[in-house]
Amino acid sequence: MEMKRIFVHTYGCQMNVHDSEKIVALMENSGYEIVDDEKKADLIIINTCSIREKAAQKVYSQLGRLRKLKEKKPELIIGVGGCLAQQWGAKFIEKAPYLNLVFGTHNICHLPEFIKMIEKTGMPQVKTEFHESVKSLGILPRSKNGKVSSYVTIMQGCNNFCSYCVVPYVRGQEESRKFCDIVDEVKTLAASGIREVTLLGQNVNSYCGTNGIVHDFTDLVQEIGTISGIERIRFTTSHPKDLSDKLINCFSAVDILCEHIHLPVQSGSDRILKMMNRCYTFADYYEKVDKLRTVCPDISITSDIIVGFPGETDTDFQATIDMMGKIRFDSSFSFKYSEREGTAAAELKDKVSECIKRDRLRIVQDLQDRHTIERNRAMIGNKEEILVEGISKNSHKDLTGRTRTNKVVNFEGNYELIGKTVSVMIIDAYLHSLRGELTKEEVAKCLLR
Ligand code: 5AD
Ligand code: SF4
Repeated sequence: MEMKRIFVHTYGCQMNVHDSEKIVALMENSGYEIVDDEKKADLIIINTCSIREKAAQKVYSQLGRLRKLKEKKPELIIGVGGCLAQQWGAKFIEKAPYLNLVFGTHNICHLPEFIKMIEKTGMPQVKTEFHESVKSLGILPRSKNGKVSSYVTIMQGCNNFCSYCVVPYVRGQEESRKFCDIVDEVKTLAASGIREVTLLGQNVNSYCGTNGIVHDFTDLVQEIGTISGIERIRFTTSHPKDLSDKLINCFSAVDILCEHIHLPVQSGSDRILKMMNRCYTFADYYEKVDKLRTVCPDISITSDIIVGFPGETDTDFQATIDMMGKIRFDSSFSFKYSEREGTAAAELKDKVSECIKRDRLRIVQDLQDRHTIERNRAMIGNKEEILVEGISKNSHKDLTGRTRTNKVVNFEGNYELIGKTVSVMIIDAYLHSLRGELTKEEVAKCLLR
């Protein structure tokens, strides 16, 4: 029987990228193969994200294009998954009647059954219920040959209800995976050649897994730190209010925990932080950063910043700029506030105009660029440990990898180094990457290999 083909469009965050890997793994087990050209596909899945508006707009234009594809090939099955699907449910089919499937964030594991049902009945399916135990948490993603780094979902959902955020509504309540299941998954990944794992959750600091006894996130990091073959642990995302001293100390106590933390601050104004329901002040946040830098002086700190939250005055915005100057993030993602239906902030008056939001965003991004380049340049002359991920996209002569602080480094080297950890001297720094060269010791080692 000829194999069927799947193509997946992914929008949004790392969580979604990882969900798409799971979707592919599931469908491969059901006899599909992945293709990189949607025109060749029998099944197209759009994995959506509604956290930020841009992603939603892209999905609409994507759907318009797919309609034309479906007209030419009526047997094509098109499904929409992810946050936007969770939120919109059947409304998606009303808007785009040529869609075959809408499936929510808790229903990924049933995808093969949904597809079979569509093939059998020809009827569109809408599956957006929340389940108490999210089975998709345990799906092993497809492991690509030669891949050295992998995500591992440790929890899903969020109970924080930041006033601007749709995640608790579309991903449901926090649910942690079992401690032993995560540890087993990492062991399997290590055996398949994975050297770096990124532990994923909306708020990993509130991980609470049972294994007879209750384990917190630091227990998990420490346990994974002992798994043979794993050389690097990363995690994302952390809520500042839940970042404990115990976890901060892991940055010195657990050798393989990489010196990088993504710690979304959102605003520098205490008044706005309160309206956002973030449950910390800037002073609280600063104290955590101070502790992190005391325990681990080289740590790189990255963040998320929202500008133009309802009621944000010039003074509030200036507090964000001052905050950035005090902290000097290695990099940050910044967003214009965008209203999400059903969230508490959608009810707030005193909206900030689009034009002010745009100006504020530009100011934040320009300042961040200056800080990023300053922090990157400070690395020139350092010897860094690089896990080589592959060949650089820009030049086939270059290899690419990351420092433990999560900065991309390109350098000349033999393809045999892919998958290995090498020592590289940083010789130049740009906004999005660093330039390096193998250290003399590393070159000598290569000659002996
Ligand atoms: N508007 C703008 N940015 C948002 N984020 C989440 N919701 C919104 C929204 N409604 C940003 C936050 C969060 C990141 C993942 O997306 O900064 O940390
Ligand atoms: Fe959204 Fe806040 Fe939860 Fe992050 S912590 S996912 S911003 S509600």
